[in-house]
Amino acid sequence: MTNAPIAVNSRQEPAQKGEATRESLVELAQRREGERYALHSKHLNEMWVRVLKTIGWDVGFIRGEGAYLYDRAGARYLDLMSGYGVFAIGRNHPKVRDALIEVLRSQSPNLAQFDVSVLAGVLAERLLARMPWLDKAFFANSGAEAVEAAIKFARYATGRSGIVHCAHSFHGLTYGALSLNGDEIFRKGFGPLLPDTREILFDDLSALEASLRGRDIAAFVVEPIQGKGVNIPKDDYLSGAAELCKKYGTLFVADEIQTGVGRTGKFLAVEHFGVEPDIVVLAKALSGGHAPIGVALTRKWIFDKVFDRMDRSVVHGSTFSKNDMAMAAALATLDVIENEGLIENAAAKGDRLLASLNKMAERYELVSAVRGKGMMIGVEFGPPKSLMLKATWNLLEAASSGLFGQLICIPLFKDHKILTQVAGHGNPTIKLLPSLTLTDEDCAWIERSFDQVIAEAHRAPSAVLSLGKTLAEHAIKARVGG
Ligand SMILES: Cc1ncc(COP(=O)(O)O)c(C=O)c1O
Repeated sequence: MTNAPIAVNSRQEPAQKGEATRESLVELAQRREGERYALHSKHLNEMWVRVLKTIGWDVGFIRGEGAYLYDRAGARYLDLMSGYGVFAIGRNHPKVRDALIEVLRSQSPNLAQFDVSVLAGVLAERLLARMPWLDKAFFANSGAEAVEAAIKFARYATGRSGIVHCAHSFHGLTYGALSLNGDEIFRKGFGPLLPDTREILFDDLSALEASLRGRDIAAFVVEPIQGKGVNIPKDDYLSGAAELCKKYGTLFVADEIQTGVGRTGKFLAVEHFGVEPDIVVLAKALSGGHAPIGVALTRKWIFDKVFDRMDRSVVHGSTFSKNDMAMAAALATLDVIENEGLIENAAAKGDRLLASLNKMAERYELVSAVRGKGMMIGVEFGPPKSLMLKATWNLLEAASSGLFGQLICIPLFKDHKILTQVAGHGNPTIKLLPSLTLTDEDCAWIERSFDQVIAEAHRAPSAVLSLGKTLAEHAIKARVGG
């Protein structure tokens, strides 16, 4: 194992005659390594550095490969967050790296703007082949940006202004997407947000019908499986929602930014539910984690309404969208997913983990539920029955709601080198969102570690309580971007 902080091929082109030899990025990163937290505290987000230090996550990762991260001491970690879901094919996949190097070497006419890109055309064709009921692709640079496009397209195409979203939803943090956020902590203080947005309960068709009846809603925007909490709807919810949308002239928008590109054991999570949304939004894993990307895939009539005349041909867009790096990375990522059978692997390893974690739920009273599909799994903790444990649980809840999950994540990281995250503010659920490349050995690593950490929480609740108090004193709220 090398200790190079930048894992891409760091070979430099030989210096040309007369050209000063430049310090390589690897050398730069090594030289300044000791300052990484100080630099961030000074020039970026100091509070985030404080969070990392308080929970002991300040180990300084210097390398990533596949499903693993390596810290500066050389220790290997199993990353069950995969960069909030972007590294579905694993970190630094050589095929994606090679595609990016090929683009850089090709002197492509990238972003000529008054032209169209072949790579973008081919990527759109490949994505739409997976969704034969859709016809058009709009590329963006992030998930939130793709959601913004969906909101604008839905409003323009329907001539309506209303957008309905669900409680506990997460669609990004730009203003339109934030206006559809179902968690007050993200919204508070940033208002006024987009007008005419309405929140309803997830998995509640009556609530949806009540909100659509006025025929003023342009779109119902929903995650097929909610990232915050890993909430899976009843089998007939999404098909029922699609029917209601059709009945009331509302567009059904599936936000597959987290669930898409194979994460749940199908290319799209809506495939589990037999639904064909009017707009599907993807991002995160689509470019293998190496280049920002987002895309809104739509029915032809929606797209054609927005871009209906030559003078409106640039009515929505973004300078960097469709850039060659993102397009090439996404094409290579789709190849990897297909050639390595990663969707099938996500389904198989997901089934294994769900079965073993569910067995743990039977044995441990602090585990109240295990749910998921493929490589998106939630382990929820809840109030135990026995008096001693219950007292601990209540004290922790009083200190900070949902804190218990964080108290499991910490020993998973510290003692077992497993990265997990809590699945939302005030939510005692731990989320597993690993690369789709997990092996049986990785699954065994997860099973062993969860078993030991949860057993310890039952055996020594006072230790959990004391760690909880320390965290509560530091007012740690887990960061839950993914
Ligand atoms: C379901 C969902 N939608 C949208 C987003 C926003 O994506 P981005 O962070 O790329 O803007 C996220 C990010 O976590 C997400 O999980």
